[in-house]
This record gives sequence, structure tokens and C-alpha cells, in this order.
Amino acid sequence: MSTTTLLGDAAGELEVAFGTGATAARALAPGRCTLVGEHVDYVGGRVLAMAVDLHVAVAARVSADGVFRLSSRGRRVQRTDPAPAGDAGDRAFATVVALRRAGVDVPPVEVGVAADLPEGAGLASSAAVIAATADALLGLTSARLSAGEFAEAVLTAERDIVGVPCGPLDPQTIVFAHPGAALLLDCAAGSRTTVTWPWSDVLVCVCDTGEQHDVGGAGYAARRRETERALALLGVSTCQDVGLADVEAAALPAVEGRRARHAVAESRRAQAAAKCLQEGDAASLGALMSESHVSLRDLLDVSTPALEAVVGAARAVPGCHGARLVGAGFGGAAIALVERAAVARCRTAMAAAVGAGEDATWVVQPSPGVALLSHCIGPDAALC
Ligand code: GLA
Repeated sequence: MSTTTLLGDAAGELEVAFGTGATAARALAPGRCTLVGEHVDYVGGRVLAMAVDLHVAVAARVSADGVFRLSSRGRRVQRTDPAPAGDAGDRAFATVVALRRAGVDVPPVEVGVAADLPEGAGLASSAAVIAATADALLGLTSARLSAGEFAEAVLTAERDIVGVPCGPLDPQTIVFAHPGAALLLDCAAGSRTTVTWPWSDVLVCVCDTGEQHDVGGAGYAARRRETERALALLGVSTCQDVGLADVEAAALPAVEGRRARHAVAESRRAQAAAKCLQEGDAASLGALMSESHVSLRDLLDVSTPALEAVVGAARAVPGCHGARLVGAGFGGAAIALVERAAVARCRTAMAAAVGAGEDATWVVQPSPGVALLSHCIGPDAALC
């Protein structure tokens, strides 16, 4: 869907739900697709990820009666306090709280949300709602933040206000991504490197299993806790500070041992995957993606039968270099790295594996982040 249509849909959602009112500010944020480096951002690992050309659009206007209202895909909520209430308004209203903490004077607002980015599919729809809302609110209040402050506010909204124990992966990618490139994030150093996508004939296919995952759920928090406990037992604070030999030598308890092995190897794989992009080696990148999936399944226990079916179906298609679940797991989507000539067959095979139609699949392109889409985010020395 074109981004202009999506922005119009968000404004339409607002008017249909709450009638005509003050002029609305509109903004857009992309989703995120991790290539390699899952479940390592919260323990200082490396991640190779890109923003994708599936978006969340938000239209926001000042509320005439001081009540916060939101309509998103037909779900309507309202309240006088922007604090989380366990409903569809939590992310957007947490954004108000986060921006206020960052010094932006945000009034009560009415918000309309539209998206072609699937929700709960492991493509960072939560962070995209927050980032699009934050940008619309900056537009509405004529405020500006630097890109770094903006990304920090997005993380604050989801982690500290909604209370999901997530890491910096989603806000960093959604804010700082460049078109036609992936980002290699070093979540220990807080740095990022742009890596150009070298191919026109190697593409990323996504298939949503239709099982919505819940990144705010108990499973995600448990994985984070277990991995942090493993690193504490190893006496280090990031997964980049140890090697696999150290993990084996430490004889950790079984669960902590498996979590540590995943984090240490996955972070190294992300670094190796960036090198594959730099060298234009699609076969090796695909192999690393498939290894990442096996590790997420066998060492982190975050795959599901539906994800296994989609990944297996993709990998069986000639011309598919590799496939893996994307995002936190526990459901959601899988991705495959595919030669252009094999894309149609791969989409059909992935969708058929979960009894879905082609409309559950997408071919995604590395796309610009909010810092490049917005007029409210100031140039930031930290922008790469
Ligand atoms: C979710 C979280 C991220 C990251 C991924 C898994 O998207 O928001 O911080 O941990 O899961 O890599």
C-alpha cells in the first residue's frame, strides 16, 4: 500500500471514530526485519537488521475535551490518564508520557492508526506505533528532538512505561535505518554501521503464520531473565565478553547454558552476516540465517510448529538461501532470503505451510527509518 494512502487511512480512522475536529498531524514509521541477531540486543549483542517498506501511520490531533482517545483498526479506547490500561491505546498513550518526560509539552490527544505492517508478527509493530505516534506528536506541537533523543523516547515508552523488558533493537532500526541498507547494531557500544544491500536479485520474503506473538508476554521476559542470569554466572555483563569455550568450561545449569550458547554465538553470527552483505555472499548469509533459526529453536526454545512449517517449506524451495523466524518468536512471522526467480514459489510454499493465502506474505525492501522520513527530527551527529 502506498504511504500516502496509509496516512489518509489513519486520518480517516480518526474522523470515522471521533468525528471532525482540529487539524491532525500525520506521521509514518516502518517495521523492522532482523536478518541475524535475535534475542541478543538486551544483553549487549550485535544485530543485523533493516527497516522494511511496511508501515504504521498515525494521525493525531488535540483533544477538545481533554480526553485521550485512540482508534486503531476499528478498536476504540478512551481515558483521561495516558498511563497504560492493558488495551489498544497503551503504546500510543505511553508515547505521550515518554515525550513529556523528554521535555515536550504534549496535550491530551485523539489518535487514529492505520497500518499495512502486520501486528504481533515479529516485525516491531509495537515500536512502529510508538515511533509514528511520537513523530506525529512532535509535528502537532511543533517540537523537535534529535534522532538520538527520539529513539530513546521510543524505547522509554515501550520498556519503561508499557513495561515490556525489550532492548534497543527496534527503536534503533526504525529510527536510524537507511534505504537500500541494513544496520549492524552493537548494543554494548551503542554504535551502528550502515551496510549496503548489495543485490537487486536477492530478496527477503516474509510470511506471517497468523499466530500472534506477545512480546509483552511471560516467555520473552523469561528468556531475558535466563540469559542475564547466565551472563551473571559467567561474570560478564554482555554476551560479547565471552566465547563459546568459556561457556562450555563454566558448566552452567542446563537452561542457563543453552541461553548463553545462543547469545554468544548469535551475536557473532550477526557480525559474520554483515560481512556476507559486504562481500555479496548470499549463500553464506542464508546459511547464517538458517543457523540462527536452529539456535532460536533448540537453545532458546522460542519456535513453534507453525514457524517450523513455514521455515521448512521455504528452505525446500530451490533458490532459497536460508530462512528463520523473525523477532521474538513464540509465533509471528518467518523470513527467507530468496533469489528473485524463486520468490513466487517461495511465497506460495510458505503460505501453504500454514494454510494461508498469498496475502499473508510480502517481499520487503530495506527502507528508510523515521529520522529520514520526518521533518521533526533534527540532524543528529550520531546519525550514520
Ligand atoms: C522484540 C524486542 C527486541 C528484541 C527482539 C528479539 O522485538 O522488542 O528488543 O529483543 O524481540 O530479538
